[in-house]
This record gives sequence, structure tokens and C-alpha cells, in this order.
Amino acid sequence: MGKSEKLFRKAQNLIPGGVNSPVRFYEPYPFFAVRADGSKIFDSDGYSYIDYCMGYGALLLGHNYSSIINSVKSQLNKGSLFCVPTEKEVEVAELITKCVPCAEMVRLVNTGSEATMHAIRLARAFTKRQKIIKFEGCYHGAHDYVLVKAGSGVAHQGIPLSEGMLDSIVENTLVIPYNDSTLLERTIESNSIAAVIIEPVIANMGLVLPEKHFLYNVRKITQQHDTPLIFDEVVTGFRLALGGAQEYYDIKPDLATFGKAISNGFPLAAIAGKEEIMQHLTPVGRVYQASTFAGNPISVSAAIATIKTLMKNRMIYTKIDNTCGKIVKGIRDSSSSLGLEINVNSLGSMFQIFFSSNLVRDYTSAKKSDVKLYKKFFDQLLKEGIFVPPSQYETCFISYSHSKIDIMNTVESFDNALQKVRS
Ligand SMILES: Cc1ncc(COP(=O)(O)O)c(C=O)c1O
Repeated sequence: MGKSEKLFRKAQNLIPGGVNSPVRFYEPYPFFAVRADGSKIFDSDGYSYIDYCMGYGALLLGHNYSSIINSVKSQLNKGSLFCVPTEKEVEVAELITKCVPCAEMVRLVNTGSEATMHAIRLARAFTKRQKIIKFEGCYHGAHDYVLVKAGSGVAHQGIPLSEGMLDSIVENTLVIPYNDSTLLERTIESNSIAAVIIEPVIANMGLVLPEKHFLYNVRKITQQHDTPLIFDEVVTGFRLALGGAQEYYDIKPDLATFGKAISNGFPLAAIAGKEEIMQHLTPVGRVYQASTFAGNPISVSAAIATIKTLMKNRMIYTKIDNTCGKIVKGIRDSSSSLGLEINVNSLGSMFQIFFSSNLVRDYTSAKKSDVKLYKKFFDQLLKEGIFVPPSQYETCFISYSHSKIDIMNTVESFDNALQKVRS
């Protein structure tokens, strides 16, 4: 028995399901990581994998990226937690306001879930309304406000609603299909809506892109009804462009949430948006939000180094987008020569394969993908030394550390895996 298997058996007796986040489990057991560097992750049995999970999108620059690690190391020598304000918090807030179009003010938190929870509370207080609208298959974190018909692990496990949620909260979360602005308009007209929250590009039911004019229509409809629009940019922020999806599509929401790539692998998230809304947060306003670790100097140092690296070198985006394009082309070439019916959705440095002949444009079409084939594909890729997310309802991410050799090996391995899937 290998070390990962042994560790998993032990972990199952100590940690529910042996994992600290459900998306990390897959049959028969996940590999246990010991270290990672650049584009690679190494396991406790001595195998290495080219990583396309990349911290579910967090590691935009790659694992162990030296300028980020050095800034964290230098902060570690000065202390890891102060719980009083620091100059670096002001610096990172200023950097975010420079990069992100909607960011007039910023509040730092630790995780994407915290960011979306507080953004929604803020919108509710600002509008003095209760109901929110979210879109089917969008994932905004593991809290009651948004855990209704969500994507990611919830879609993977086929749980439309988590047990333990309050009915009164669920009743206030209206869910409509993505890419359907007509239904959005009808729903907003017939209800009193505190906020519309959306992943501008969905990365949590595989990758699903907004159709032409959809985001523009969402913005127009929300504006017409004085309803705050929250872009959940926990994945797209600092990844799709320095200013996130709002820069990429030139659409300014009222509030936006960030996490993941903002600090290249350290736990930091943020709520950003219009000053007139943000000023409702305590201690100026009466919307309570607090956290011991918010704005901790370690994560903040990582975020400053990440944002400055990205600001200095916008070519990073060109490189990662090109890498993604080459891999996607490789997959499409393989599947057409093998006569396989698959769909590959891609944008910027993100892509996902769906084993389906239908176009994937919403939750219903994403659910038509053959998840058994995806699992076969995943298992085969692992044997080839490639790690993609274990679930169909996640996205593959490219980092700045993926090299030309990685691309060559990946295209070849994807071809081998697709051949196995066909047989
Ligand atoms: C779009 C989006 N929003 C929010 C979250 C929640 O972030 P966290 O896992 O940091 O709480 C995620 C996590 O994957 C996400 O993809």
C-alpha cells in the first residue's frame, strides 16, 4: 500500500471523509501532496503532476513564485498578526482601487465565502430589501445565502440544498438560469430584490461563458430597478484581466468580491465597490463585519507582491492566455481526429472539457455531460502525470509557470487519455 492510501485511511478516522474540503475527494482516494513548485505538484509516493487545478484558480503565477514567497518571508520576520491597522493594508486597498473599475473602497476578509456573505448583507442593508437573485450553477461559497442550486462540489454531489440550512433564508434566494436575461427581468419586476449576485464567467459548473450582451443586459436591468449588482470575481478577479471580468467586459457592477488569484495562494479576499454602499460597513455604518485574521500582514504582503507583479508585467496575461489556447487547440484536434463528441469551453487562462455533444451554456446543458467519462479521463490523466480538477463541475487553470514543455507533454497526455476514454 502506498503512502497516500495509508494516509487517507488514517485521515478517514480523523477528518470526515478524510478531506478538509469535499472537492478534494475522489475515488478510490486522493493523492496526498508534500510540496509544489512552478507548474508541478509532488505527492507522498514520489510522483509529480503538471497541475491544472492550481489551487482552484488561486495560483495565477504558479506554485512557490519567488517574489511572492520572498515578500511573505520578509514579513514573517516582523510578525504574523497584529490586529491593529497597518500601512500595508492601506497600500493593498489603494492597489485594488487602481486596478478594479468598481472599487472606490475596499474591505479585506479571508475567504471568498466571507466576501460574498458580507457583500449580500451590505446590499440588503443598503436597499432595505431581503430577497436576492442568483444564477443556477454559480457557486459563491458555502454559506446559507447562496448555497441554493449551486455549482462546484454541490453540483458534483448532486445536492440542490445542503441539509441544515434555514428555510427562511432559502426562500429569500431566488434562482434563475444563467444566460437568461428575460427571466431576470421578469423576476426583478415581480419581486423586491436586494441584490443580484453573479459569477460573470462561471467557473463552478465547468467553465460557462456569458453569451453576447448577457452581462450588459444584467447591468441594464439591475440599474433600471435600482438593484445593486454584485460581481463575484473570486475566480475571475486578477485572472481574466488585472481589473477582472468587469475590465474584460467593460461592465461596472456596484459591488464585487475577490479572493484566490489576488494573493497567489495565500488566504485573502476582499469586498470592493461604490463608496455610498461600502460606507454602510461598521464602524461607520451599521452592517456588521469583523474577523480576527482580516488584513493579516502575511496575506496582505502576498497580495501586494502579486498585484505589483501583475501591474508591472501585463504580458503575463498574454502568455497564460496563449498557453491555454494551445492546450485547447490540442484537445480539439485530438477529439476531432478520434471522432469524439466533446465540448471545450475556454476563456483567457481557463478551460474545461464536457463530454457532451450539446453546447454548454447553462446548468441544464452542463448537467448533460457524461460524468462517468470525465472520471475515466481524470483517472487516465493522473496516470499520465497530469492533475486536473477531479470534478466535471470545476475548471482547469493555467498559471504563468506552465512552460512550453508542459504544453507539449499536456497535449500528448490529453490525446492519450481521450483515446482511452473512447475505447
Ligand atoms: C466564484 C466563487 N465565489 C466564492 C467562492 C468561495 O471562496 P472560498 O472557497 O475562498 O470561501 C468560490 C470558491 O471556489 C468561488 O469559485
